[in-house]
Amino acid sequence: MKTLIFITILIVTVSSEIKRYSFPDDFLFGAATASYQIEGAWNVDGKIPSIWDTASHRNPSSVVDGTTGDDAGMSYYYYEKDIQALKDIGFKVYRFSIAWTRMLTKTNQVNQKGIDYYNKLIDRLKEEGIEPMVTIYHWDLPQYLQDLGGWTNPRIVKYFEIFADLAFKSFGDRVKEWITFNEPSVFCDEGYGWASHAPEIRTDKNIGNYLCTHHVLLAHASAYRMYKEKYFPSQQGKVGICLNSGFNYPYNSTVTQETVDKAVNFYLGRFANAIFTEEGDYPKIMRDAINEKSKNEGRRWSRLPHFTTAQIESLKGSADFLAINYYSSNFVVPFDLLPGWDPAGSDNEIWGFHDPTIWKRAKSVWLYQVPDGLRDLLIWIKDHYNNPLVYITENGWSDEPMTIDDYDRIEYLNLHLKALSQAIDASCNVKAYTVWSLIDNFEWMRGYTERFGIYAINFTDPERQRIPKKSVALFKDLMQNMYVEIDEN
Ligand code: GAL
Repeated sequence: MKTLIFITILIVTVSSEIKRYSFPDDFLFGAATASYQIEGAWNVDGKIPSIWDTASHRNPSSVVDGTTGDDAGMSYYYYEKDIQALKDIGFKVYRFSIAWTRMLTKTNQVNQKGIDYYNKLIDRLKEEGIEPMVTIYHWDLPQYLQDLGGWTNPRIVKYFEIFADLAFKSFGDRVKEWITFNEPSVFCDEGYGWASHAPEIRTDKNIGNYLCTHHVLLAHASAYRMYKEKYFPSQQGKVGICLNSGFNYPYNSTVTQETVDKAVNFYLGRFANAIFTEEGDYPKIMRDAINEKSKNEGRRWSRLPHFTTAQIESLKGSADFLAINYYSSNFVVPFDLLPGWDPAGSDNEIWGFHDPTIWKRAKSVWLYQVPDGLRDLLIWIKDHYNNPLVYITENGWSDEPMTIDDYDRIEYLNLHLKALSQAIDASCNVKAYTVWSLIDNFEWMRGYTERFGIYAINFTDPERQRIPKKSVALFKDLMQNMYVEIDEN
């Protein structure tokens, strides 16, 4: 009898630790993908090559398993399967990107077949009551533009304007949520600084990546202004930009809040400051440090280009929302607390790192589970950028191919949804969340070795069946209940 009472008490105690984290009824949940990672059909119906076609076809290619996105999930043919997958969960929004290389030829003529594909996709989503959220640029730059220098050539701003104009004109009657760029820090740093992504250009000391940064910001502002003037009056949509960031935690008590803020300013602020602050321009702390370093390096001009006053004004306020991709966070330590570190090697002079003894790691080497970072980053954004409208447009976990019982992903997602709910309770103005990703896909230089989908794909299956993983059930429940339950034990 005593044992029975004890067990009952134990069960009551354990179950009382389950806590509920809820979301407002009008909060939008959905899933995200990107054109090159899912569409396949890389050379059909007039599509021209992109920098990712070039990088993955190069021999030897830098893609770890030697694969390409030539076929991927074949969403160009099987988009109905994607829509069915969204529908089965009850998702309300689908974030996908449009391929520049499908919609325009090398001489900037419209490729109608490319437009037709996205029209079909958008029409079918609308029929199913799923809101399309369109990323205009998710890394697949036409190769012929890269041959002219890509994002390091100022002329790219005009080329991007032509593409964005075509997108607004073709789809803006139905698309009301536009994202100009996906994660410019990643494609600028990795594509034009460290050569670890297409177009694999290496420039020492943050030169190519800062030129890219500058032109992306100008291209963003000009697309935003064009939309407001030419399309907003009839289309009434929103245009934002998607930035990735983690949060930075002081490694120990000697690391100050100043270091934390500096790290966020150098990373998120490099794009966000010009758009979301009254001050405008690059963060002053960044501007000053790079000017000074460039001078000490004996350069004739700063590695970080300057905006004109008119450009600063045009950038200010040039977004109706801030889209955030959150995966992980770091610890930070300033170089001056690390004897022997060479300040010349880094513009912010801060060392950021993960601690594998504290944080669980995904299949991807850079992805550690730090859910509180999502809440703390959102609060930082609220406090520093005047509480803008925010969408979480990516968040997800990678594992081995065909892990259908994806319990690690479920844990990661539940904890991040909890953090998101806490951020909303702390008055952060977040209104949407799209998980990365709807389906397994081509994970850039990691090929098909790391899987992010909540639906699995066996890439040797000609039908590319979308197979629900266990995490699909999590989202089905979430769509029914608008809360997650976490066992806080
Ligand atoms: C993001 C990117 C996505 C996806 C994801 C997982 O940086 O926008 O395309 O690959 O990471 O690595």
